[in-house]
Amino acid sequence: MDGNGRWAQSRHLPRIEGHRQGAKSVEAVIRAAREIGVEYLTLYAFSVENWQRPALEVKGLMALLMEMLKRYAQELADNHIALKAIGRLDDLPAKVRAQIRLAEQASVSGAKMTLMLALSYGGRVELIEGVRALARRVRAGELEPADIDEASVSGALYTAGAPDPDLLIRTSGEMRLSNFLPWQTIYTEWYVTPTLWPDFGREDFFAAVSEYNRRERRFGGV
Ligand code: IPE
Ligand code: MG
Repeated sequence: MDGNGRWAQSRHLPRIEGHRQGAKSVEAVIRAAREIGVEYLTLYAFSVENWQRPALEVKGLMALLMEMLKRYAQELADNHIALKAIGRLDDLPAKVRAQIRLAEQASVSGAKMTLMLALSYGGRVELIEGVRALARRVRAGELEPADIDEASVSGALYTAGAPDPDLLIRTSGEMRLSNFLPWQTIYTEWYVTPTLWPDFGREDFFAAVSEYNRRERRFGGV
C-alpha cells in the first residue's frame, strides 16, 4: 500500500492525512475482496524499515492502526473475516499489541477470509527467525537437516498454513518487492499500477483481479 505520502504532498497536506485517506482504501479493498470470495488478503501496512521514519509519522500510523482495529474488529468478525498479524509484533507498542490480540480473538471461528496484516514485517527477518526455529528443532533432535524442505521452511514462517499469494498489487508505480514475502512470492503474478494507494478503490481492485484472470500461469512449465 504505497503512495500515501505523495498523495498528501501533492495536496500540501501532512503525510498523516495521506495515511488517513489510505485507511479508506483499506476498507474498500477488504470489502471488495470479501465480496468476490478472496480467501487470503495480505496488507503490507508497516515494514521493519518503516521504523526509520520520523517519530511523529510512526506515532500517527500506530494511532491510526489502533483506531482501525477498534472500529472494525466486530465488523470483521461479523463478516467471517479472521485477522492475523504477521511480523515482528514484539516491536509494536504494548497497547497496539493488545488491540491486535483482541481483534484476532474476536474473529477466530468459521472464517471465510483471512486478513493478514503485515506489521513490522520484513521478509529477511522472517526467514532468519524461521531458520533459527528450524535450527532449534535440529538441535533438539526432532528434525534431520536432510529433511528440511520447502514445506518445513514455509511452515517456519509467519505465514505458516497460508497458501503462497497468487496476485501482488503494487500501487504508486514502484517496481520493487521492498522486503515483502520474498519466499512466498516466487511465482506470484505482479500487478503494478501508478495509482496512489489513497486513490485505489474497489474498482481498481476488481481491475487488478480481472487482469490476473487473463494471465497464463505456467510455474516454469510449458
Ligand atoms: C504508505 O505510503 C506506506 C506506509 C508505510 C503506510 P508511503 O508513506 O510510503 O507513501 P510515499 O511513498 O511517501 O508516497
Ligand atoms: Mg512509500
